[in-house]
Parts: sequence; C-alpha cells; structure tokens
Amino acid sequence: MVNNLKIEYELISHSPEQTQQFGVRIGKLALPGDIFLLVGSLGTGKTCLTQGIAWGLGIKEYTMSPSFVVVRELYGRLPLYHIDLYRLDHLEEIVELGLDDYLYGNGVCVVEWAEKGLSVLPTEHLLIQISYLADTERSFQLKPSGKRYIEIAAQLKNSIP
Ligand SMILES: Nc1ncnc2c1ncn2[C@@H]1O[C@H](COP(=O)(O)OP(=O)(O)OP(=O)(O)O)[C@@H](O)[C@H]1O
Ligand SMILES: [Mg+2]
Repeated sequence: MVNNLKIEYELISHSPEQTQQFGVRIGKLALPGDIFLLVGSLGTGKTCLTQGIAWGLGIKEYTMSPSFVVVRELYGRLPLYHIDLYRLDHLEEIVELGLDDYLYGNGVCVVEWAEKGLSVLPTEHLLIQISYLADTERSFQLKPSGKRYIEIAAQLKNSIP
C-alpha cells in the first residue's frame, strides 16, 4: 500500500565542514513552516548541522557557543527558531513552553533532542537521525513524514558527495 511506503535516505558526512554544507543546503531549500527534527546522542553534530542551516538561510551571526536558552530566534531569509530540548526531561515541561507559535508559524524550526518531545511535535516533519560512525564520520538518516518532507528529503539526498 502506498500509505505504508517508507522513504528513508542515508548520507555520510566525513567532516564538520561537510555537515555544515549539508545544513546550508537544507537552509537554502527551506520553506516557511518547515520542521526539522534532529535526533542523535551528545556531540554527534546537531548544532553543527544547525549552524549550516542558519548560514543557508542567510544568517551570519550564528555561534556554536553552548547556551541555556531553549529557543533561539534568528533572522535571515526566513526566521530560524532553534529549539533545544536537551535540558527538559518531562513532556509536560515541553508542553508548558508553549512552542506552538514557533512550530506552526512561518519560520523554520530546527529541534535538537527532538526524541524528547516527539509525541507533542508536528506529525509532518523531516526527522534527521545522526549517528556517530568514527572520529569525524557521521551518518545522517533522513526520515520524512508527509509530502513536503518526502520532497525535500529527495532533493537533499545528493547533497553530500
Ligand atoms: N562529520 C562531522 N559532522 C559533525 N560534527 C563532527 C563531525 N566530525 C567531527 N565532529 C565534531 O563533533 C562535534 C559535534 O558537536 P555538536 O555541538 O554539533 O554536537 P551536538 O549533537 O549538537 O551535541 P549536543 O548533544 O551536546 O547538543 C564537534 O566538536 C565537531 O567538530
Ligand atoms: Mg547541540
């Protein structure tokens, strides 16, 4: 059945720069309302990818420095809402943040540690699962849900040579 068709792509990055370039491509292709859910353990490259997305949206001032804020708003071609759920342990805490204006607005949302809030995040999204392969090697599995995200995942699959 077509409904059960599962489309997934895997990309391999060999350096932080390659991950940033992959992010740039996402930022360039992003449309208002897009949701990118990043899943992957500590230090796999979620923020590195987000930095590239910011650049791709024309945002220059993005810094990698650790921050304690849950949501960072940055403004480029489109607004970027960078949401980091790392410090949140309970679903209620995430619900209480009142993220809906970000999640259902006209900006681009990138959510780090999205696995902590999957059940309360938009069901249509591009989930990117990042895995550590070696010192400078990471796997990016693209798991789209919904027509828009199947489309962008297909456009992205050739981004990393
Ligand atoms: N191919 C690669 N892609 C991305 N990062 C890489 C790669 N190879 C090595 N690295 C290194 O891995 C680290 C990734 O850090 P980053 O802050 O992006 O991870 P994170 O997933 O956001 O971590 P956290 O869970 O703490 O938020 C950086 O130090 C980066 O230089
Ligand atoms: Mg991070």
